[in-house]
Amino acid sequence: MCGIFGYINYLVEKDRKYILDTLVNGLSRLEYRGYDSAGLAIDGDKKNEVFAFKEVGKVAKLKELIAQEKPDLTKVFDNHAGIAHTRWATHGPPSRVNCHPHRSDPKWEFAVVHNGIITNYKELKALLETKGFKFETETDTEAISKLAKYIYDAHPTIDFTTLVKAVIKELQGAFGLLIKSVRYPGEVVAARKGSPLVVGVRTQKKMKVDFVDVEFGEGGEVLPAEQASQNVALKKSPGLLGGNLLAPPDKSLLHRSQSRAFLSDDGVPQPTEFFLSSDPAAIIEHTKKVLYLEDDDIAHIHEGQLNIHRLSKSDGTSNVRAIQTLEIELQEIMKGKFDHFMQKEIFEQPESVVNAMRGRLNVEEKTVTLGGLRQYISTIRRCRRLIFIACGTSYHSCMAVRGAFEELTEIPISVELASDFLDRQAPVFRDDTCVFVSQSGETADSLMALRYCLERGALTVGIVNVVGSSISLMTHCGVHINAGPEIGVASTKAYTSQFVCMIMFALSLSEDRASKHQRRLEIMEGLGKISEQFKTILKMDQEIKNLCLKFKDQKSLLLLGRGAQHATALEGALKIKEISYLHCEAVMSGELKHGVLALVDENLPIVMILTRDDIFAKSLNAYQQVIARKGRPIVICNTGDKEFPGEKTDKIEVPHTVDILQGLLNVIPLQLMAYWLAVAEGLNVDFPRNLAKSVTVE
Ligand code: F6R
Repeated sequence: MCGIFGYINYLVEKDRKYILDTLVNGLSRLEYRGYDSAGLAIDGDKKNEVFAFKEVGKVAKLKELIAQEKPDLTKVFDNHAGIAHTRWATHGPPSRVNCHPHRSDPKWEFAVVHNGIITNYKELKALLETKGFKFETETDTEAISKLAKYIYDAHPTIDFTTLVKAVIKELQGAFGLLIKSVRYPGEVVAARKGSPLVVGVRTQKKMKVDFVDVEFGEGGEVLPAEQASQNVALKKSPGLLGGNLLAPPDKSLLHRSQSRAFLSDDGVPQPTEFFLSSDPAAIIEHTKKVLYLEDDDIAHIHEGQLNIHRLSKSDGTSNVRAIQTLEIELQEIMKGKFDHFMQKEIFEQPESVVNAMRGRLNVEEKTVTLGGLRQYISTIRRCRRLIFIACGTSYHSCMAVRGAFEELTEIPISVELASDFLDRQAPVFRDDTCVFVSQSGETADSLMALRYCLERGALTVGIVNVVGSSISLMTHCGVHINAGPEIGVASTKAYTSQFVCMIMFALSLSEDRASKHQRRLEIMEGLGKISEQFKTILKMDQEIKNLCLKFKDQKSLLLLGRGAQHATALEGALKIKEISYLHCEAVMSGELKHGVLALVDENLPIVMILTRDDIFAKSLNAYQQVIARKGRPIVICNTGDKEFPGEKTDKIEVPHTVDILQGLLNVIPLQLMAYWLAVAEGLNVDFPRNLAKSVTVE
């Protein structure tokens, strides 16, 4: 939900203007993740001086503040580390003081930016207060910066990595963090546990390496003698919190990495720039060479080198982190000709669904191949249950395909909201397959549920958009939906791509069933036409905009759908609520007569999804009930359906497709409706109040 950005240059001369612009620009690329305040820390004019700028509001406000403060923009640095953050408040309201970076002391000896939550910050704070530290914010993050200073003051010869290791050993909760310090000029340590961090690398010469070694607790170079004696001092320390801080260090504290990844052939550091970010979207304009940190990685950047450490001995994770090439383009994270990211993403859907199917679905040969699942398909076919677990829009996409899975696989299916699933501590068994569906791959509730299922030995599958995200790394297997960056807080193209990927998953599972052969062919043909049908619906954009005028000044809106279209109604209602703030309720139309009908009169605006499927006749009952109560619903129906004569009913006509794919088409008018309702109210479509793109808190 918050965004982290860092920039470190080594042997590359950059003036302060460049450094500030790079940090501020990085933050604006991350702004969609959280946007109530922003801040950054860079080096000052004198030795050991730090300039920190923090401002409430959008990144543009921070930029204004920096302009007012007039730092010397011409000052040149050939080795400099800057860190920055855009915040979405969780602990403490948005205010300058609560905004990151957080400092250890008024002189900014240690500065920290942090995503996630430190659950034991109150205990740390209480303890550090007894040591004389004065806390000035209501955040959990401040405890990290003060803890770093506390340990440093006790062990002033400690190296930066060792110090950060000692700090994070004391932290409970989730974090992605960057620490900079006047004690380690030009260096940054980044650490991740449950919150994503990507490192981008730009070298002037062509990069020769394609991985960076990971230094586990054992192995590597033993610290020099004075460091070892330092550890004797550590041993004598009483220990903090009754825990392991300042207690005898384990062997991991005696080693450091020998990674020589970015040295030239003759072993000399070369000019290098590093870009650290919680999201690759902020990096691509600088470099496409990135490395994803994994949970429990501690990355130390100094003198043009990147060393990755872990606290533990070899723990089953790979001993290298591959340098990968980002496949997104800058224009994918720019609005281009559109007014809002959400609008752009709605209009990208004809392309994004094709990207979800590319190389996977062959309509001519009638085959589906999901590479990330291939080895597991036969195990999944034999599972006791398929449990889909997700939140928000991703949950709705699971609801939308539930019937398709039941029909094609005949495996018992359940669809769970991650938070509720955890609250109930629902039973999970080794022979269950748990499918985690998430755009970001970082949603805290889904991640916690994933850990819960892993602990119980279930097979886990990820259906995720963001490559390198926690869910994609932690699940046994999965599918990337390839929707491209989704910046608008309201999810649109991820929904349709998740839908398509899950249908392909169901098709793969049913491949061995002769009885489903014809049905499978029909669905594959339908998928082959979806993109063109999206284009047809998107042409109705202005028509839908005009229809939305009917809802002007309304307080409430009802959305009715039955069968799979209940999921479409739920998703449409969520979109309308979250960006237009209009109260909107989705009702399963079979339930109308059991209570909700009392709301219906000639005034209540109603949208009914009435496309043709085998329960159409039942859906029509609800329509008749609404008409009988003088309701005038807007109907989403199939093109040319005579059931709804134009002179009597406002309607949005969508092309017809196979019943289990119809929800893909029906949701598009609702996305457009939500968009135009929000625009008509003059609301900030991409940044709805109180919401952030990725919800990394429980
Ligand atoms: C609504 C929306 C949210 C997310 C939910 C889960 O438009 O975007 O409801 O769907 O927070 O997020 P992911 O899919 O990233 O796990």
